[in-house]
Amino acid sequence: MKEYNDSYLNEGNYRTYDEILRTLGVDWKKPGVRVLELGSGNAKFLDYLRKNGVNAVGVDIRPTGSVELPQITTRVEQLFNATESVDVVLSIQVFDNSFYQQNHLLMMQEIARVLKPGGIYIAHGEQIEIASVPHLTLVTELSEFGLQVYKKS
Ligand SMILES: C[S@@+](CC[C@H](N)C(=O)[O-])C[C@H]1O[C@@H](n2cnc3c(N)ncnc32)[C@H](O)[C@@H]1O
Repeated sequence: MKEYNDSYLNEGNYRTYDEILRTLGVDWKKPGVRVLELGSGNAKFLDYLRKNGVNAVGVDIRPTGSVELPQITTRVEQLFNATESVDVVLSIQVFDNSFYQQNHLLMMQEIARVLKPGGIYIAHGEQIEIASVPHLTLVTELSEFGLQVYKKS
């Protein structure tokens, strides 16, 4: 896995996403709200989310975190079958074709497919190489933080 110091970022990221979601009228700690973290890797942020009451599940091609945590081993290009089943998708430094071999069109299409209508995708530090996919609209861009926020129509 690409080297990446995540030790001090969890709290900051959590607060940033919480604020973005509240602004969009989403309470990710509400019972029944389902969150998916793409490229959850060592699952440290996934663990942080769950300890803070967020019902989050991870997806990674090579998960390395504790087996106690719910991580699905699969590619973002081919997520689970359930469509329109997730309220919030997150990813942190996952889209990167200079390091991984990825199909960004398929990845974005899968995000659009699994999100519920009105669902939110927060992309953080991502180098997404396609302009757009149907049903996923860029609603906020905070370039200084490398953040893009998409909404499913
Ligand atoms: C730089 S790491 C970031 C990990 C984690 N998001 C974090 O912030 O610590 C990128 C992760 O994305 C995963 N990954 C990259 N491309 C993927 C793909 N197409 N499908 C699933 N996982 C992928 C890698 O295995 C790795 O765990």
